Amino acid sequence: MKVTLSVIKADIGSIGGHITPSKRLLETVRQHVREKGEGLLIDSYVSATGDDIAILSTHTRGPVDEAVHKLCWDTFMKGTELAKSQGLYGAGQDLLKEAFSGNVRGMGPEVVEMEFDERLNEPFLFFAADKTDPGAYNLPLYLAFADPMNTPGLLLSSKLSRGFRFVIMDVNYTEGDRIIELNAPEELYDIAALLRDPERYVVESIWSRATGDLAAAVSTSRLHNIAGKYTGKDDPVMLVRTQMHFPATGEMLAPFAVGHFVAGGMRGSHNMPLMPVKLNSPISYFDGPPIVTCAAFAMHDGVMTEAVDAFDHAFWDSVRERVAGKAMEMRRQGFFGSAMLPMGELEYTGVMEKLEELDGRFEVRED
Ligand code: F6R
Ligand code: MG
Ligand code: MG
Repeated sequence: MKVTLSVIKADIGSIGGHITPSKRLLETVRQHVREKGEGLLIDSYVSATGDDIAILSTHTRGPVDEAVHKLCWDTFMKGTELAKSQGLYGAGQDLLKEAFSGNVRGMGPEVVEMEFDERLNEPFLFFAADKTDPGAYNLPLYLAFADPMNTPGLLLSSKLSRGFRFVIMDVNYTEGDRIIELNAPEELYDIAALLRDPERYVVESIWSRATGDLAAAVSTSRLHNIAGKYTGKDDPVMLVRTQMHFPATGEMLAPFAVGHFVAGGMRGSHNMPLMPVKLNSPISYFDGPPIVTCAAFAMHDGVMTEAVDAFDHAFWDSVRERVAGKAMEMRRQGFFGSAMLPMGELEYTGVMEKLEELDGRFEVRED
């Protein structure tokens, strides 16, 4: 059976600043999707990661379907009304356009969708990150799909040995989708050369070269490219199919033990390590650290099992402890050097104005 997975995600308001949506807001969204999705969706799962609410749904209508997108847009609009009535911070902040027009792409919410022929058993992972941008997944995807030091399946399985095709997007280009397709392993160094710059080059999707199947897909919108200014971090979502001719679930999770530094955290303007956390975790230290959750599912005929929390295991407690250490270590250098993002990525413009004013006061010495 051909099934579509759609994830549409937005920050429509949260408690105590950017911490987490209220229980009533989450319940309102859940109920709206359940009621209005009847006859349209096969199944759905609504969750929160930090201050973001994601609607994961299954259906047979294909990606960029107007009815599915409208359902999510209307749900977020309805949620925004409640968020305003509760005085939640940043109510409706990711809904950047007034009226719905065909689909939610370019309107603020993050979107990731996949259409595929369901396998006899269909394990897949749904990742959601908060306080960071889509390039945060570059390193884990590179390690899981292209590095045999992380993924022994690349050596052990003849299908994985054929490699993967990376579709990478230049997210600075706003006239349309500017993409490049590169094959691992032959073009590994080219892939690496792009992915090292996660603010500009972002993995959009990865395909099996053995079967042509879609393996992974990432939401690529950058909110500031839509709004023309920074309106918050993008907080990307990702879907990854695992096992058989794809990396195993454990091979996809393993790279998150690195706790790599990503753009995000306080005022959307700092480099902080990405912490793998339990489902529905809030935000805390230094408006961060940036977090990532992973819900694992099995699916049959589009009906999903319950979500299993892939980072809720004793192993990840020690990772979290180490990542907290890295976060505090970075914070010791305050605003200096690589602790704060480069000028072009800052969410606040105050420092630019200050520099402009100071620039006029510089003098060149006569002698
Ligand atoms: C992302 C997020 C941040 C904030 C940023 C600035 O979920 O919440 O990117 O948008 O920290 O927010 P203010 O200016 O409201 O503190
Ligand atoms: Mg936010
Ligand atoms: Mg957020």
